[in-house]
Amino acid sequence: MPPVPHLELNDGTTLPQIGYGVFMISPEDVVAPLNSAIETGYRLIDTAAAYGNEEGVGKAIANSDVPRSEFVVTTKLWNDDHGHDETLRAFDRSADKLGLDTVDLYLIHFPRPALGKYVDSWRAMVRLREEGRVRSIGVSNFGVPELDRLAEETGVVPAVNQVELHPMFPQDELRAAHAERGVITQAWSPIGRNQGLLQHPDVVAIARAVDRTPAQVVLRWHLQLGVVVIPKSERDDRIRANFDLTGFTLDAAQMATLGALGEQRCNPVPGTLFDVS
Ligand SMILES: NC(=O)c1ccc[n+]([C@@H]2O[C@H](COP(=O)([O-])OP(=O)(O)OC[C@H]3O[C@@H](n4cnc5c(N)ncnc54)[C@H](OP(=O)(O)O)[C@@H]3O)[C@@H](O)[C@H]2O)c1
Repeated sequence: MPPVPHLELNDGTTLPQIGYGVFMISPEDVVAPLNSAIETGYRLIDTAAAYGNEEGVGKAIANSDVPRSEFVVTTKLWNDDHGHDETLRAFDRSADKLGLDTVDLYLIHFPRPALGKYVDSWRAMVRLREEGRVRSIGVSNFGVPELDRLAEETGVVPAVNQVELHPMFPQDELRAAHAERGVITQAWSPIGRNQGLLQHPDVVAIARAVDRTPAQVVLRWHLQLGVVVIPKSERDDRIRANFDLTGFTLDAAQMATLGALGEQRCNPVPGTLFDVS
């Protein structure tokens, strides 16, 4: 496979533009598909304390022939662990489960604005970075006011904001705000989590025109927008196909068609899935 493009983060490090997400895969079941992903060439791995599979992720990394330094391991601070000291303790638990001394990218999973603690959590993330336990720090599911509050109160802009993003929920305004602030956009549910996006007639027609699968077309759309993708699959053929995104490009008309599919989340609105208020 050709090399994966990398994007530069605001802390001077880089992030591969294609990663592998492990949401909803049990710790026992995660090792086999992760081995397949690593063999395919994925190095950015996206897990979270809430996924309950950090041990499995750690096992697959430890057992692989790929040097630790090549991996970009992401995990996330869960909603119950907000607060400065709580964040430090939650990080220790995650690092322990992963079996790693350092984590490459640590994200606040949700801001939980009603709790009023995400700035304290962020100060702890900054400390973890200063101590060298985390390479890069970022957030997930943050809106612009929350991003700006972090920057105003701590002077540290998140390197990444990981949000739901796909052609049916293209987040134009948020992406523009990220670009203005030097925040890299990571897309969760990049292929729409099996909710009909890949069967959409416009996606299918473009896939036929470029002789690729609908998932490859959607993932290519993200890459051309400068977004990092972390598709999840437990099937070897899809794991390979989702990584094989070079050798074709989408023209401006195809990009525009995909970007205008609508404003329809493929997931329950945050707050209905679990308490993120
Ligand atoms: N920060 C957050 O709040 C948040 C929230 C949700 C997700 N995430 C992260 O984002 C990652 C990806 O999101 P996601 O898992 O929600 O959705 P997704 O990657 O958009 O979609 C995954 C679904 O698509 C199927 N699929 C994968 N490749 C395919 C292909 N080539 N053709 C057809 N179907 C395909 C998978 O089934 P098979 O497994 O059967 O192939 C699975 O049902 C997660 O694993 C997680 O790491 C983060």
